[in-house]
Amino acid sequence: MNNKRINIAIDGYSSCGKGTLAKALAQELGYLFIDSGAMYRAVAYATIQHRIAVDNTSEIIKLLPSLNISFDYNSENNYYNTFLNDVNIEYAIRTMAISNIVSPISKIDEVRTFLVAQQQQIALNKCVVMDGRDIGTVVLPKAELKLFMISKAEIRAQRRYNELLEKGTKNITLAEVLENLNTRDMQDISRANSPLKAATDAIIIDNSELTKQEQFDMAMGLVRERIFPF
Ligand code: DC
Repeated sequence: MNNKRINIAIDGYSSCGKGTLAKALAQELGYLFIDSGAMYRAVAYATIQHRIAVDNTSEIIKLLPSLNISFDYNSENNYYNTFLNDVNIEYAIRTMAISNIVSPISKIDEVRTFLVAQQQQIALNKCVVMDGRDIGTVVLPKAELKLFMISKAEIRAQRRYNELLEKGTKNITLAEVLENLNTRDMQDISRANSPLKAATDAIIIDNSELTKQEQFDMAMGLVRERIFPF
């Protein structure tokens, strides 16, 4: 097949289905899926593990060289795990304890520089679907396809809440999840370094009223236009 190798950048607000779409596209195309948020979550995890306070920026920066973040993504079965220094932290980084501290940590310039360099390296050979907040604007400004996902906050909170319940999380309310999303979005939009925003050439998809299949079909249509340009 004479198809073009491309990179796909998917950005958007917290819990608006970026990962679901990115994984589905990666599986369909046999591409590598990279969840850049998991990398920020891994730094947050290490911060807690080393008992460093979230506002102790200099200690968090000192930690960075000792962090080896890696992924295990199998596009055959869409099986995905995040590792920190070879320990599987995929489950641990999805807790509210991490969600509550990850935004302030992702504001630290040195953390961003450290992770963005790795994200760019991974995408050098193309065939990557990466989701995050600054992928289309900063990490992969030349990505052949850039999507920016939006969805109503209440719908995103309900989806996230259901996901947490499915994973067995207890003692959590929908209101807490909604508050965490709103707080993180506000912090992500307003930070000075690489704020969450759509790249000027991104295609905006509002999935409030879309099923996963409709969203996937829409995105695949855009992918096809780019990988079969003739
Ligand atoms: O995608 P996520 O919710 O797992 O991301 C966790 C946090 O990491 C999010 O609140 C903001 C930050 N983040 C970022 O600043 N830049 C990215 N490219 C991805 C995530």
